Amino acid sequence: MANAVSSNPNNLPLPPGSFGLPFVGETLQFLFDPGYLARRIEKEGPIIRTHILGRPCVMMNGPEANRFVLSTGMKHFSWGEGWPVTFREILGRSLFLQDGEEHRRNRKLIMPAFHREALRNYLSSMEQLTLRYLDKWVVKGEFAWFEENKQLTFEIASELLMGSKPGDDVARLSRLFTELTLGLTSAPVNLPFMTYGKALRARDDLLKHIEVAIHERQQNPGTDALSLLVMSRDEQGDALSMTELKAQALLLLFAGHETTTSMLTSFCMSMAQNPEVWAKAWAEQESLDIEGPLTLDAIKQMTYLEQVLKEVERLYAPVPGGFRGVVEPFDFNGYHIPKGWMVLYGIPAAHQDPAIYPEPSRFDPERFSPERAEDAKMPFSLVGFGGGPRICVGYAFAQLEMKIITSYLLRQYTWELLPGQSLDYVLFPTLRPKDGLKVRFRRLQ
Ligand code: HEM
Repeated sequence: MANAVSSNPNNLPLPPGSFGLPFVGETLQFLFDPGYLARRIEKEGPIIRTHILGRPCVMMNGPEANRFVLSTGMKHFSWGEGWPVTFREILGRSLFLQDGEEHRRNRKLIMPAFHREALRNYLSSMEQLTLRYLDKWVVKGEFAWFEENKQLTFEIASELLMGSKPGDDVARLSRLFTELTLGLTSAPVNLPFMTYGKALRARDDLLKHIEVAIHERQQNPGTDALSLLVMSRDEQGDALSMTELKAQALLLLFAGHETTTSMLTSFCMSMAQNPEVWAKAWAEQESLDIEGPLTLDAIKQMTYLEQVLKEVERLYAPVPGGFRGVVEPFDFNGYHIPKGWMVLYGIPAAHQDPAIYPEPSRFDPERFSPERAEDAKMPFSLVGFGGGPRICVGYAFAQLEMKIITSYLLRQYTWELLPGQSLDYVLFPTLRPKDGLKVRFRRLQ
């Protein structure tokens, strides 16, 4: 106790809130009640004390809190000590869980796989796979879009990030990833019939597959991201080790498709619910007179589509926030946060702040027009991809992929939502409409 007092020189109180039930704290509400956070913020304000996933935690919300966690106060935090044990075990020593020099070196070695030249090489593969799925969707006619988007983004990720070829067992790999993802939010009990045990087996199978692909790239490098990772060298001329390569490739595959799936699905839903926005996005595509394969230049001109995607990011951010471990105690907004706690910065609260985004629940891409630029009023108010020095490394990859897919959807296809489905959103394992967004889909005449 004396220790706690001496590390709290300003004698500030802990944030308001409660630690909930013994042992479980408020973990169940956090995981399964989509309205939990918003209710807590309304009652207690943006900085809230709780107990989730086995640890005391402060949930920090709003642009000021985002700025502190993502940029100005970073020295107080560790990523490795922040993420729950399930993430640490399943995702291994990958970028998500690294700190300091180890993180700096690995991030630098990974970045060439996401530079403009690399993206230029990815464009055609993304486009070809998209066309294949569009044909398949026309034949199907009716389907649940979340699962379909997931297969498409997984094929793109496994071809570009791991060099899988058509005909490889992508469906099996995708199933393994679903098992891996379910394990992240399960109880960490490693028994073969438990969700977590299955997730660890799935991780081992995926790592074996990735190791074979790495060996192939070492013999025969190509232009996919895995080849670029294999060839990348640090300032000393050293490459990533096999263990590092495997962990980073697994993370990129994981981070690179579930999130994009979620945003694409929300885009498809938002178009069907906002016909005037859909018409305007379609008109922009028509005005570009695109014939034949897409180019980076044509994609750059899709400025209204960019606004639409930002509005989807604002209202349906796939990732609800990020965990950090407190390695140095700190004071924020009149509260003291002790060492050893967990911090969860929340993404949706800033996106819903009426002082930044008037009528925040309205789907209105014009808020991101150059004239209104509502997100520019306050730094760290649009953080669907994180922010600061550790902003999402896959940002440009995801934007390119989403623009290719949505450009084709807008120009050549139409869809309507099927009746009798729930459009309520579930948060885990990935943000999505409960019934997966069931649609009727056809080619425009
Ligand atoms: C719509 C798509 C995506 C969304 C919404 C998204 C969101 C995010 C967010 C919020 C963070 C920061 C988390 C935090 O601060 O704790 C992040 C980090 C990261 N993302 Fe993404 N992401 C997307 C796509 C991708 C893709 C396509 C890749 C890779 C191919 C990727 C790889 C990563 C990695 C490796 C990090 C960790 C960066 C670091 O710690 O230095 N993401 N992403």
